[in-house]
Amino acid sequence: MSTLLNISKIDMVFPTPNGDFTALKEVDLQIKKGEFISLIGHSGCGKSTVLNIVAGIHQATKGGVLLNNKEVLEPGPERAVVFQNHSLLPWLTAYQNVELAVDQVFKKTFTAPERKEWIEHNLKLVHMEHAMHKRPDEISGGMKQRVGIARALAMKPEVLLMDEPFGALDALTRAHMQDSLMDIQEELNNTVIMITHDVDEAVLLSDRIIMMTNGPAATIGEVLEVDLPRPRDRLSLAQDVEYNRLRSAVLTFLYEKQRKVEPLNHGQKKQQNAPTNKKVDVA
Ligand SMILES: Nc1ncnc2c1ncn2[C@@H]1O[C@H](COP(=O)(O)OP(=O)(O)OP(=O)(O)O)[C@@H](O)[C@H]1O
Ligand SMILES: [Mg+2]
Repeated sequence: MSTLLNISKIDMVFPTPNGDFTALKEVDLQIKKGEFISLIGHSGCGKSTVLNIVAGIHQATKGGVLLNNKEVLEPGPERAVVFQNHSLLPWLTAYQNVELAVDQVFKKTFTAPERKEWIEHNLKLVHMEHAMHKRPDEISGGMKQRVGIARALAMKPEVLLMDEPFGALDALTRAHMQDSLMDIQEELNNTVIMITHDVDEAVLLSDRIIMMTNGPAATIGEVLEVDLPRPRDRLSLAQDVEYNRLRSAVLTFLYEKQRKVEPLNHGQKKQQNAPTNKKVDVA
């Protein structure tokens, strides 16, 4: 299948008061339509920067992003973003938050009753039909996150960009959201790039896991193909030999090859790639 999204040899340099900081170096990745890609790597390595460049929020210093052979120069509704912290407008109901996005994309092509049906359809997809007329402060964190996902899906984006979308959720809600996302993606065949810190989540959901090296000048260290048949079931996979092989490959990359020490005292400067037997953390 041909490439839908071409992230071509990206460098990202941020100017800082202490001089230029090279966050990304030669990040190069081609993604096919319908692929589910996870980006994994230690905190600060540049995952959000990659996603923001694909979203058009940042421009790469060198290289660039092509979607359907067209250069990405600004944000657009064909690349919907789900942020870690939902980002709903607090004075609007769940329905109205989704409506805002739908009106932005479909005001000219859908009639008002068609738009209403479409908004309700997307809220039903994430099981929010019972609370669609509640405001963000009247619903739980998991529900807000689901509304954020419904809002993104309702734009029918060619590419769904998700920055740790389930990071703030409790384990049960998170598992439920992962299952719903797999169902939705199977039904709609969206192309997805998801950042995660969760190794199991990455293996369960992805077609490919992109593992990034530590910064500065972070780049793609290894790419892991996940060939597990779909639909995937978390319980049976827990016993699956291939699942466990993939899981340990990611863990080995993170904890051995890209080992990183978080200082126990947060006031200290971060050490990177230092030999140690202290606490090692992916987050
Ligand atoms: N606007 C900016 N100016 C200067 N440096 C920046 C800027 N944005 C990001 N950085 C730096 O670039 C590096 C990558 O940041 P980024 O937010 O992409 O990391 P990340 O992998 O998403 O981390 P996390 O997992 O903690 O979210 C970090 O060292 C960060 O400090
Ligand atoms: Mg980030």
